[in-house]
This record gives sequence, C-alpha cells and structure tokens, in this order.
Amino acid sequence: MYTQLEQRGMTQPPINISTLQNMKHKNQPIACITAYDASYAALVDEAGIDLVLVGDSLGMVIQGHDTTIPVTVDDIIYHSKAVSRGLHRAFLVADMPFMSYTKLSMALDNAVRLMQEGGVMMVKLEGGDDQVEIVEHLARHDIPVCAHLGLKPQSVHKLGGFKVQGREPDKAQEMLVSAKRLQDAGADIVLLECVPNEAGKLITEALEVPVIGIGAGPDVDGQILVLYDLLGITLGRTPKFVKNFQADCNSPLAAVQSYVNEVKDGGYPEPEHCFS
Ligand code: KIV
Repeated sequence: MYTQLEQRGMTQPPINISTLQNMKHKNQPIACITAYDASYAALVDEAGIDLVLVGDSLGMVIQGHDTTIPVTVDDIIYHSKAVSRGLHRAFLVADMPFMSYTKLSMALDNAVRLMQEGGVMMVKLEGGDDQVEIVEHLARHDIPVCAHLGLKPQSVHKLGGFKVQGREPDKAQEMLVSAKRLQDAGADIVLLECVPNEAGKLITEALEVPVIGIGAGPDVDGQILVLYDLLGITLGRTPKFVKNFQADCNSPLAAVQSYVNEVKDGGYPEPEHCFS
C-alpha cells in the first residue's frame, strides 16, 4: 500500500535524507544500527533507531565468514527485502559488496538493484579518492550515497588486518581531503570506522553532510553498531568500540532502547570505547 503521504502527518514520520541533514544542523545525534531480517528490523524501529544498515557485516555475523569479502549483491538484496518489510520509520541503507562497484556502469546497475529489488533508500560504499568518480556517477542519477572511510573492511587483506586508521596527522589530513572530495562528488553521508577521536571531530566539523561513526569517538553526528555486537553475541573477539547493551537489560528491545538513549544523550561512546 502507498503510505508516504499518510505517514508524513504522523508524530514520528519516516526519516528521510532531509531529516538526517537537519539532525546534524540541530546537533541531534543520529542513532544507527545494522539489521538483517524483518523481526529485528521491526524491533530496532520500535526502539527508535533513526537509520538501519543492511551491512556486508552479514558475511561475518550471519554467514560465519572471517571477512565481508564473500558477500554478494544477491545476499544484500535478500536481507534488504526482509529488513525493509520490518521498518516503518527508520531510513534504510545497504552496503555495496566487495567488487560490486569497480566500474561506473556496474556500480549504477548494482545500486539500482539494491534500490528496486531490495527497497533501500541509500547505498553505502567503501571509498576514498578512487571512488570519487563512482559517487559522482551515482549522485548524477539521484542515487543517495554513504561513503565509508577509515577502516574499510573490504580492504582487510590489503591493510593487513582490522586496524585503526588516521592515527598519524598526515593520514588524518588525507582522510579529511577524501571526505570533502566525496561530499563534493555528491555523498550524502560519510561513515567513519575505527579512527581516533580527533580525526572524527576534524572531519565532522569540516563536512556539511552527517558523519556517522563506529569507533570514531563522541564528536561525530551519529553512532552505528552491529546489532549482534550491541546484544553481546559477537562471534570471536569484541572490538574496543563495542558496548554490550544487553548486559544490564532484560530483553533485546530494552537493549536497543538503551543504546538509542545513550547515543542521544551522549552517554555512548565512553572513553573506553574510543581510539586515541
Ligand atoms: O557492514 C557493516 O555492518 C558496516 C558497519 C560496520 C558500519 O559497514
């Protein structure tokens, strides 16, 4: 059923790209999370999450791989379809998987599939200067884009592990320049993973578009966590930036609500979750 106009009049209308932009300008923190199925999508939506990502982290947390590299466009579409059926209010973003955006036409075709078949509202790609042209191409076709900088898990084998990025001042400056170029090319959101607090702050203050962090310190415009990490059911080693919100809550819904509250009131991340 077509409900867009009806929903606009609700007290909590669906989040769109303008809502997220306004939240940045009003200093209202954006609470984001990953989800991979309809039941959890409905739960995180009820908890007040603003943005849901169907992340290629599904390769690790759902499929049990060591990295995100085996994930395919079909996998992302399958999970996006399920998640989109569970959401009413949250803005839905999905990852472009490894090697699905190496050429302009390929990037456009795959982004269109994620939107048309998966029902997502924005695509996320891991990128730096080499992806500026791709972002420009997608933006020219009115595809909303989130550019993922800092630790790029699809590059794990090139990086030699999941490592903090931008610790050296020149590397933080390079990341800032890339972030600005991606914004100028049309990126609507920048996501920073595993960077020191100072780099998170520097880039957030320099950009017009919202900056969402995961292990990027408290000074970004919003936080994102992998749902299963937040629920304390991480497979293997828990990253430093993760907080188990279920430890003090008696249900997954209460845990996600507690995460939303702590993002909104600045209680999360605490210094122990940050990199210097
Ligand atoms: O794939 C994913 O879940 C992500 C988050 C870590 C931001 O990219």
